Amino acid sequence: MRPHRSTLRLLGSLLLATALGASLTGATAPRPGATDTTSPLDRIIPAPSSVTPGGTPYRITDRTRIHVGESREARQVGEYLAGLLRPSTGYRLPVTARGTGGIRLRLAKGPYGEEGYRLDSGRDGITITAGRPAGLFHGVQTLRQLLPAAVEHDTVQSGPWTVPGGTVEDSPRYAWRGAMLDVSRHFFSVAEVKRYIDQLALYKLNKLHLHLSDDQGWRIAIDSWPRLATYGGSTEVGGGPGGHYTKDDYREIVRYAASRHLEVVPEIDLPGHTNAALASYAELNCDGVAPPLYTGTEVGFSSLCVPKEITYDFVEDVVREIAALTPGRYLHIGGDEAHSTSHEDYVRFMDRVQPVVAEYGKQVIGWHQLTGATPAEGALVQYWGLDGTDAAEKEQVAAAARNGTGLILSPADRVYLDMKYDASTPLGLNWAGYVDVRRSYDWDPAGYLPGAPDSAVRGVEAPLWSETLEDSGHIEYMAFPRLPGVAEVGWSAAGDRGWEGYRERLAAQAERWGVLGIGFHRAAGVPWPSA
Ligand code: ACM
Repeated sequence: MRPHRSTLRLLGSLLLATALGASLTGATAPRPGATDTTSPLDRIIPAPSSVTPGGTPYRITDRTRIHVGESREARQVGEYLAGLLRPSTGYRLPVTARGTGGIRLRLAKGPYGEEGYRLDSGRDGITITAGRPAGLFHGVQTLRQLLPAAVEHDTVQSGPWTVPGGTVEDSPRYAWRGAMLDVSRHFFSVAEVKRYIDQLALYKLNKLHLHLSDDQGWRIAIDSWPRLATYGGSTEVGGGPGGHYTKDDYREIVRYAASRHLEVVPEIDLPGHTNAALASYAELNCDGVAPPLYTGTEVGFSSLCVPKEITYDFVEDVVREIAALTPGRYLHIGGDEAHSTSHEDYVRFMDRVQPVVAEYGKQVIGWHQLTGATPAEGALVQYWGLDGTDAAEKEQVAAAARNGTGLILSPADRVYLDMKYDASTPLGLNWAGYVDVRRSYDWDPAGYLPGAPDSAVRGVEAPLWSETLEDSGHIEYMAFPRLPGVAEVGWSAAGDRGWEGYRERLAAQAERWGVLGIGFHRAAGVPWPSA
């Protein structure tokens, strides 16, 4: 973070404490050698662009109102905030168009961009100002982190609900700050997906990529090919019952994500990773024989039949139905690990399928192997290589980036949240190595892929593959504490963040996770409060 005045304030309180011969309470005492994380203003994750503490704190009371003006979208953010605060404060917190004092959410012209905001806190109230509703929403997440962790309880707590005085000015470095959830290897219920969405929103992530199909399960109802979901979705890794989303389920996920200012990016992985589809419809197979359902964890053995015309009828039907469920701009078509598709067939398939995505009004995203074909105009590719990925493969992706293809960075040995933290991690995989908290945080998207222009980098995304993960507890053990770090890599300017300060701020999140019931991994290298 840029330098600010809180260091002086800290010095002041230390001198005072010494003069009184008293020790500060645990809540305010700095750890020896720690950076200043004593004020909630200095603990925000992701680190804001600028923080200026000062002035009188504001206290939320039973008289506080939330003023939102005339905008319907600002009112929705106001209702969301009230919904966060009412259970633990027990206050009414009416959301009103006009009034003075209290909490004010204000849409206004200014240097805020699509997602930036300014938060001013003082004796008379708190004002969050933004150019767009997403900025107000992110400002609300900052306000949330400025309140005591007890605010996250769903029963009335004693408070007080004090927000320190000061100003936060903030906007993201990258427009793409995503998380991917693999609902194919194990199926996750709508409630489990919503729970993850809420966790993403707390750290200002704005994309939820759902990996909806793979060898082990097809998870979304397609009316024109109903067996995809009813049969292809009927199991999962290990042979459990699997499941799928009805279209109404899926619309509910999309609606809920939108209410948290996240865009859902659906992925149908093609032409490989398609055993569930091939098992559901014999006619999709080159030999006309449906393989059995698959509940193991191998990859690379399945492929749609590129020479068969019915393949393209199938793809068009699926793309049309998924596009109709998708208010967002993007449709992810996978394209990774097509080891059972010849290079020639892969290129032929992608040349034919990418225009179908455009025909239904969406832009293509593919895993970076799509650069082995010709990415469509406006396509994004998601890079999931490792430090050790060979230079020729990196250069192929970099060349596409120089040619106008946008990059989402998901280096597997940094941000694959399903990689084990270390050899003792009971869940997850380790094919990309162990990824400890520091490794997932301590890297810079700019210059990451040699030869790719920085302007091609749209942001970062943290995938969570679910071969070994079966429920929200498993998701949270792998995502926490690494996910907030990836959020900060995507949001905060390189000069505003660093590991030494971050590890202190991260440790300070643990109390909130405790209240939220997030069973995080107490990773080494982070000064967690004692349990
Ligand atoms: C991938 O991990 N196969 C994208």
